[in-house]
Amino acid sequence: MAISTVGVVGAGQMGAGIAQVAAATGRSVILQDIASEFVERGMATIHGSLEKFVAKGKLPAGEADAIEGRITPSVEQGALAKADIVIEAIIEDQSLKEGLFATLGKLCPPGTILASNTSSISITELGKASGRPTEFIGMHFMNPVPLMELVEVIRGRETSDATCATVMALAREMGKTPVEANDFPGFVANRILLPMLNEACFALMEGVAEAEAIDTVMKLGMNHPMGPLALADYIGLDTCLSIMEVLHSGFDDDKYRPCPLLREKVEAGHLGRKSGRGFYEY
Ligand code: 3HC
Repeated sequence: MAISTVGVVGAGQMGAGIAQVAAATGRSVILQDIASEFVERGMATIHGSLEKFVAKGKLPAGEADAIEGRITPSVEQGALAKADIVIEAIIEDQSLKEGLFATLGKLCPPGTILASNTSSISITELGKASGRPTEFIGMHFMNPVPLMELVEVIRGRETSDATCATVMALAREMGKTPVEANDFPGFVANRILLPMLNEACFALMEGVAEAEAIDTVMKLGMNHPMGPLALADYIGLDTCLSIMEVLHSGFDDDKYRPCPLLREKVEAGHLGRKSGRGFYEY
């Protein structure tokens, strides 16, 4: 199916990044969130990212303006009815996502693809909530979206071949490399990444080393661009905890138990970069 307008729900760091790379394909984008301050912040994130590309000579200034100009911010859910695909990027809460997809399933005309950027929640279950499981798919972007090449594409049990083909082609046009994964908790990316970040929390909690030392070991010893604790702060500790909880309950295996220190930080509101404090202060 031809996609000319992309809807993005949720203007946080992921949603803003998705809107940016979608607009860079030349398509119109509707960036929707529940409050004007959220959409304004999302537009500011996009502006800041585009400015970096312009400053580095990777993007002509006129093209950056054109990309921004193709994005329409909105606080009205009804605006999404015009989209040919709606990509959801709200917080990792299954019941909130299911409620949203039930609404979108009624609001969007038949044929509109509904996609979730969930980091770990079952695509089959979200697809069922949407009432259009054949036109439902997981489209999992990596943070920071404008820089990271991967999109994990996850088919639910009933996702059609046509939906999958459309989304794979769209991801390529966004400059990404899509990789298909099946619908298991955490898919591939977070099933492998998050236990490592969680283990770094255990190492810190048990006093194996200080945070900086743990991160330095992984950066210098394994050539990771960021240490695991800095990366957890970057992703958001609440998101990390949600993913660990999905892995823990989904596999019913204690090897995925969330580290108590991670839980404690989330309970204290120390969510990483976005709250100014996590394993580090910002
Ligand atoms: N838009 C445009 N440019 C950006 C940018 C953005 N959003 N963010 C950073 N940049 C640019 C910077 O301006 C800088 O440019 P320069 O090299 O010309 O100065 C360049 O990217 C590098 O940035 P920094 O110097 O600030 O820092 P780094 O060299 O450490 O690079 C990074 C930043 C690309 C984020 C790198 O640290 C990295 O790859 N980290 C790992 C990220 C990762 O693992 N992401 C996946 C997380 S898991 C996930 O998202 C799944 C979810 O479900 C949890």
